[in-house]
Amino acid sequence: MSNATLYNTLDPAIEKRVDDLLAEMTLPEKVGQLVQKSPFGIVDWEVVIRKRQQAKTQGQPFSYQEAVSPEFEAHIREGRTGTVMCDDPQLANYLQRLAVESRLGIPLLVAADVIHGYRTTFPIPLAQACTWNPELVEQAERIAAAEASARGINWIFAPMVDIARDPRWGRIAEGSGEDPYLGCILAEARVRGFQSTRLETSRRVASCPKHYVAYGAAEAGRDYNTVDISERALRDVYLPPFRSAFDAGAGSTMSAFNDIGGIPASANPFTLRTILRDEWGWPGVVVSDYNAIGELVNHRVAADLKDAARLAILAGVDIDMESSAYEAHLAELVEEGSVPIAAVDEAVRRVLRLKFSLGLFDDPFTDETLAEKIILNEDFRAHALEVARQSMVLLKNESNLLPLPKEKIRVAVVGPLADNQCELLGTWASAGRAEDVETILQGIRAYLPELSIRNVQGCSLYGAEEDFSEAVAAARDADVVILAIGEGADLSGEAHSRAHLGLPGRQQELADALAATGKPLVAVLLCGRPLVIPRLVEQADALLVTWHGGIRAGQAVADILFGTCNPSGRLAVSWPRAEGQIPVYYAQKSTGRPAEGSGTTQFHEPFRSTYLDESNSPAFCFGYGLGYTRFMYADLKVETPSVSLDGTLVVSATIENTGRQTGTETVQLYIRDVLASVTRPVKELKGFRRATLQPGESQRVRFEVPVRELGFIGPEMRYIIEPGSFKVWIGSDSGRGLEGQFEV
Ligand code: NOJ
Repeated sequence: MSNATLYNTLDPAIEKRVDDLLAEMTLPEKVGQLVQKSPFGIVDWEVVIRKRQQAKTQGQPFSYQEAVSPEFEAHIREGRTGTVMCDDPQLANYLQRLAVESRLGIPLLVAADVIHGYRTTFPIPLAQACTWNPELVEQAERIAAAEASARGINWIFAPMVDIARDPRWGRIAEGSGEDPYLGCILAEARVRGFQSTRLETSRRVASCPKHYVAYGAAEAGRDYNTVDISERALRDVYLPPFRSAFDAGAGSTMSAFNDIGGIPASANPFTLRTILRDEWGWPGVVVSDYNAIGELVNHRVAADLKDAARLAILAGVDIDMESSAYEAHLAELVEEGSVPIAAVDEAVRRVLRLKFSLGLFDDPFTDETLAEKIILNEDFRAHALEVARQSMVLLKNESNLLPLPKEKIRVAVVGPLADNQCELLGTWASAGRAEDVETILQGIRAYLPELSIRNVQGCSLYGAEEDFSEAVAAARDADVVILAIGEGADLSGEAHSRAHLGLPGRQQELADALAATGKPLVAVLLCGRPLVIPRLVEQADALLVTWHGGIRAGQAVADILFGTCNPSGRLAVSWPRAEGQIPVYYAQKSTGRPAEGSGTTQFHEPFRSTYLDESNSPAFCFGYGLGYTRFMYADLKVETPSVSLDGTLVVSATIENTGRQTGTETVQLYIRDVLASVTRPVKELKGFRRATLQPGESQRVRFEVPVRELGFIGPEMRYIIEPGSFKVWIGSDSGRGLEGQFEV
């Protein structure tokens, strides 16, 4: 494990400093620490642009003086804002200076959303999850934090650790997919990366796992929608990645927009106090999501903003992001006795603790020359390439069409995303710039002479009227068609849910026209979520899902198409056949009438939990992905056929690379609790290991799983491990594997 700063523990020296400072604070100063603002309405950007220009022409340093509104300046000087959203080192320093000049000199938390890299844009988080490579992801977040901290940021609003099983939800792009086990491992890795002590800037950064909690379970996949799940699902599926993130050292979290079973997450004492504080004893900061406190009025649980402030602080939300409810009403609520001062003190204590732990009282300023020196450097760019390569998932490769030969081949490179820079950045690409992105066409050009490539856009992303004739002609002249299609970056992310998950615009018809030429078709699919594309799956000879792969995606795609890189990505989320199956995920329950069983006969028919018009199984299951070689699994051995409650399950199997290329397999371990006091999933991931093998090489892969990790939330809503029989599989995805069994 790498070195990371821990913000989840109490340091007596810091506690003392916090107590001393708290004792000095007036009520308005306390409230100030609980207020977050963004500089959108506070900075006059026209003045900034003018002054920057002047400074440049006169060779003088630029200052934000006169650009920040005097009211806001006064606000910070008086200690009435404790945290700002900002990613400009000069502005951050300017505001920090005002803050340290305030009566008590309390520095600011400077927050920003850094979702998949800062300027060095990595593949979207869902794609990163498909690497099944926590070390690689950790390093990506370390780079993101290094760049962000060079820009004055000390608090990153990430990772998003929401489990998401509904690809209609646009924010599925921002998380690690459907599975709590993989989600926990990656949550830890991301927190460690963000909070690494090895940042090039030597500054500290705190992460903020979000959105607490169950935001990913929005009904019908519609963003911000109601969540109504059982406490069991909450504890078994949605809470664990938060717990892992906190255990890895995260010292803050963000309370979500959604309600859960009728109680909004930003006014929910059960999740915010009972679970976070009483059960987990976690001492970190809870910041509301953007205006989530104000939105308690829209949820119709708060009569007005004042009532919203009361509900939120009593429930345990420490910082009010942007709604001004605390700023306007918290002091008054305390004075009139509706909110005990102890609740405010507790919240302020948590904020100060984080500021001390970040070292801000010792040095809140950022070296303004650093960003230029480190951002987008060659090491960072090389890592972006490696993450992009490992995140792409090969779903189909008929007759080993891929890899393509590097010579004597003419390709038609078609599709609206083939020579596109902007969309490869993906949703919410922080400071990512299209100019930094290599296109897929550029990547291909590095492999083939210009004369062998014909590029035709074929159609636009979302257009209604298209003429495919030129694309079809190019395809006819080519040996292979490479078709880069899918979603633009703006079709996923926050407030970007979709009800229809097919290819937008007329892209499917373009694929139809190209497929009709009979030429081998390689579909390169860019997307922020799994799409419902049965026709394309049928038509394409090879199908590579690249997601939105960031600045190096162009080369990564070409490296895979031409075999410099053997694809190793595995789906972190099930790929549906039809929208009507959603949510479709591997860890489903058996039900009383299992699909594969004989059903219960009624009216002379077996009645089962199936569809009349579609199979239950996804098009591609969780964990699935191909490479350019084959792996054989053999000789499963349960080394501990009978294991005690405090023991460790040991299972091993041999994998052999029986193909002709070196390749990386992600060996996956699943279990099933055969009989339990509550219904349990048919399979649960409990381990995975990436193994790189030469042709002909075999390796014994051994898993050790502590039995304490095989439990679940029992009938009394407590985590238990029940003795009994278990099945175990070692295999290449959630649908296949060698089967064994053991007893606990
Ligand atoms: C709203 C989003 O839900 C959250 O993820 C983000 O951190 C905040 N806005 C701040 O930008």
